Amino acid sequence: MSVIALTPDDFARLAAAYHATRKLSRSTGIEAIGGTAEDRALGFSAIWDAVRPRTLLDPFRGLVLARLLRRSADLAGDVIECGAARGGGAALLALAARSAGIGRRVFVADRFDGLPEPDRRYDRSYRAGQFASSRAEVGDFLAGLGLAESCPILDGDFAATLPRLPPAQRFALVHLDGDLYASTATALAALYPRVVPGGAVVFDDFYDGSGGVLAAAAEFLERSGELLFLGPTGQCRLVKGCRASEPQRRDRLLAETAALGELPAYRAFLASCLPLAEGEHRAAVAYLAALAGAE
Ligand SMILES: C[S@@+](CC[C@H](N)C(=O)[O-])C[C@H]1O[C@@H](n2cnc3c(N)ncnc32)[C@H](O)[C@@H]1O
Repeated sequence: MSVIALTPDDFARLAAAYHATRKLSRSTGIEAIGGTAEDRALGFSAIWDAVRPRTLLDPFRGLVLARLLRRSADLAGDVIECGAARGGGAALLALAARSAGIGRRVFVADRFDGLPEPDRRYDRSYRAGQFASSRAEVGDFLAGLGLAESCPILDGDFAATLPRLPPAQRFALVHLDGDLYASTATALAALYPRVVPGGAVVFDDFYDGSGGVLAAAAEFLERSGELLFLGPTGQCRLVKGCRASEPQRRDRLLAETAALGELPAYRAFLASCLPLAEGEHRAAVAYLAALAGAE
């Protein structure tokens, strides 16, 4: 990672923040989330109940995705989840679209036999076959929610399925949840040209300590010059057309959160998730301190 050049300290700080928020997210009940009127109008709580047993996402990340989906209402294009596993994340996106009255397909891309072989030059954790699921079960789950028509399944490796999308296919929102360097880089290369201006690409597990997603995103940003918005959840995103001005380059990763108002937004997000238990609150404070230290 050259231009963005996260130092080991930077990486450790981001990873610590990630784990703090992950702990917070896992143990925070959904009844405490969905605090804004818009979230309630979207019916997020019911959506989360429907998908929770079949997703590895936590409710914070789910809510971030639902909000991004809603914000994309004026854009053309569909949605795609690359790395669907048991289908819960894709269903969440499709239910959020339906609930918001946004007519949009959600493509479900996965090989269903789990992760391919990690590339140990980039991926410090994960193993081949992890998160194996079943295409048939995912199909049944989506059909049970009335989503069979709106959720086409792309069964196979991203390298095989994504380049075969019709040339006119465009996306307003891309969720990359393939965990590994090569999977993320492959999906990004295939899909970014199809993202409409203003559309978001969300990277899950950006600072998960494994490093592959971060490396793939950083390489891409170095080439494209686009900004990376660090969210409060371990997700991050780029918005197509939103570029960095020099000399922001290294600081891009570290300062965006505060500079673009994500930190206050996170405080509000946390506030909407209250009451937090004492331990969770400490984790939140540690997370905010880590972010502040990264400024
Ligand atoms: C962490 S899971 C996805 C979790 C899911 N988004 C959810 O809501 O629970 C990662 C998934 O990515 C898939 N995957 C990773 N690399 C892939 C590739 N190159 N092609 C197809 N699928 C891939 C794996 O099969 C696995 O199901």
